[in-house]
Amino acid sequence: MRLRIISSLLCGIAFSAITHAVTVVDGKALADDTQGANWLSYGRTYSEQRYSPLRQVTADNVSKLALDWFLDLPAHKSLLATPLVVDGVMYFTGSYSIVIALDLKTQKVLWTYDPQVIEAAGDRGRVIWDSNRGVAYWKGKVYVATGDGRLNAVDAKSGTEIWSTMTVDPAKPYFINGAPRAFNDKIIIGNGGTEWGPLRGYVTAYDAATGKQIWRFYTVPGNPAAGFEDETQAMAAKTWTGEWWKHGGGGTVWNGLTYDPAFNRIYLGTGNGSPWNRKIRSPGGGDNLFLCAIVALDADTGKYLWHYQTVPGESWDYNSNMDMVLADLKIDGKPVKALLHAPKNGFFYVIDRATGKLISADKLINVTWATHVDLKTGRPVEAPNARYETGETLINPSALGVHNWHAMSFNPQTGLTYIPIMDIPAIFTDKGFNLVKWESPSFQFDPGVDLMREDVPLKLDASALIAWDAVKKKKVWEVKLPGVWNPGTLTTAGNLVFEGRADGMLVGYRADTGKEVWKFNTGVGLSAPPISYSVDGKQYLAILTGWGGAGVSMAGSITAQHGWGYRVHPRRLLIFSLEGGAVLPPSPPPQMAKPLIKDDFKVDPLVAEQGSHLFLKNCVTCHGGGAVSGGYAPDLRSSPIPLFLDGLREIVVGGVRKKAGMPAFRELTDSDLVALQHYIRRQANKSIETAKR
Ligand code: HEC
Repeated sequence: MRLRIISSLLCGIAFSAITHAVTVVDGKALADDTQGANWLSYGRTYSEQRYSPLRQVTADNVSKLALDWFLDLPAHKSLLATPLVVDGVMYFTGSYSIVIALDLKTQKVLWTYDPQVIEAAGDRGRVIWDSNRGVAYWKGKVYVATGDGRLNAVDAKSGTEIWSTMTVDPAKPYFINGAPRAFNDKIIIGNGGTEWGPLRGYVTAYDAATGKQIWRFYTVPGNPAAGFEDETQAMAAKTWTGEWWKHGGGGTVWNGLTYDPAFNRIYLGTGNGSPWNRKIRSPGGGDNLFLCAIVALDADTGKYLWHYQTVPGESWDYNSNMDMVLADLKIDGKPVKALLHAPKNGFFYVIDRATGKLISADKLINVTWATHVDLKTGRPVEAPNARYETGETLINPSALGVHNWHAMSFNPQTGLTYIPIMDIPAIFTDKGFNLVKWESPSFQFDPGVDLMREDVPLKLDASALIAWDAVKKKKVWEVKLPGVWNPGTLTTAGNLVFEGRADGMLVGYRADTGKEVWKFNTGVGLSAPPISYSVDGKQYLAILTGWGGAGVSMAGSITAQHGWGYRVHPRRLLIFSLEGGAVLPPSPPPQMAKPLIKDDFKVDPLVAEQGSHLFLKNCVTCHGGGAVSGGYAPDLRSSPIPLFLDGLREIVVGGVRKKAGMPAFRELTDSDLVALQHYIRRQANKSIETAKR
């Protein structure tokens, strides 16, 4: 008897030695910043710090970091996601919200879950890019939000769909490309789409087990005649004028969700106005709550607690959708539970989470829309003519923002926040707009401001990685980066910061000084942030390689300059370790589009001008500003197809390339197509002339 007990005990010990602790991914696990093996949420843990406590790879030995293995992902295009790692299994999203589960030990794909976004979206596909920033994980289920607006729960072991809930009205141009968050047996998700129609922003919390809606919070008030949902909406409505609800208002939360376990709250980073131009949206002025703000809600009820608005009365697309990082700081000798936020508008905000009070707001670069933020009132002091009252006005930043969704990270050891920034001014104007009669578009792109019909300068190095001290309110180091649209960061206990670059290099820096200590050429533009995890006690670094996001889709030459042509360069998952010995197959060199010369095509300037409007409304969001493709879709200046009306009609009106992500525009007539032909040829001729100069 005694022997049997001992032997079964021994068996138990042997058993636990070969199997591994199973992590229950719940609130406790997600609040634990000390474990480093797993990466459990978009920002790693609830704090969203993207700080890995792993310290095997350090600033001193990182020169040995090498490719361990890789996975080819040929079916995918824009890879932006932050992969999650739970007990040696990685979960990530590729194109069109497809989820892949990968065994990190055997390097085998365990399952692929395809929510069939293109089919589900149908003609709404025109507002949907393929990109998705990642999944959430809670108690054995993986949650993915789909481009067409569903929130789906999938069994983490089998990849079988457990439930699927439509979170948006499919009659409206909502889309989702953000990662949901899990907390308290709930899953929360927002949406995007304000540039394509009259949208009212909101987030919804669903029951993690069943997909049933628990609460919804609207970020802007609806039509007063329909009655407000609660007193918060009535309060917000006092900051609007005119008939804003006809334009939707905006405020969509397409990114920027943080759960705070210290206060059981959700923080929303809210979106820009719909349309961007307040003169149209709210003609009598007003702050327009809760646009471009941080809004704190009770996590259980979704009830409003406090807000801080970064851009009252926004008019530039300066949304506050960027990540909000939770950090314990010591300010003036006192411990502060701080929220760190670097929205598009170019300021770095430190907010006391307990009260919602602004502690500091400082310019990361020389932004020109506001002179400073008045700390007494918490309000920005706008520069003269910031609202482009007198016509074309050059303003920094552009609608891409100083900091976009590209992940920033916080290292508690250095106390520094690492932020990828851009320094790109833009001309804003509403000259020629009928501000009174302007109507919201319906599944067409129109932000109520003139932009992007023309291309921007060809060569542009205007970005950097900044290490910012939130307590001392100053930049500690800065590394200038090539090009624009550099992706997000990871920081580690090994005194390291890793960030990919738009030119395809993945780079490691000392976290304290910014000295470059490691570099790897991935062969394609990077848009996703790296992560770190460990399996069997060994530390790895992982990143998805693939070029994508709104800058790539829309920005023209700014992103086209890197030469990551449509479907030319391989997409992969790369895994690095100190003992790596794998070799990456060579990638084709960067390829710049070569616009076709057609001397016998006589461009009619008036027809081309009509075409430019059609292009801006329907095509710019994928084929690029000025018809210069950043690599998301074929460059139409160098495609032979627009030369032939029949071929153009088949693709654009007939939708024969729908499955590949080219939606159908059934409403376009032959004369519309001819106008587009003239515009595309005009842009081709222009770029050939620019190249000759
Ligand atoms: C939602 C994104 C999106 C929008 C909006 C969009 N396209 Fe496309 N388009 C694509 C993608 C992706 C492809 C490549 C499909 C493939 O791989 O075959 C494509 C392919 C094409 C092609 C074929 C080019 C070639 O050389 O193969 C033409 C022509 C084209 N689009 C024209 C247009 C026009 C004109 C508009 C506006 C009326 C437009 N597209 C709007 C995504 C888009």
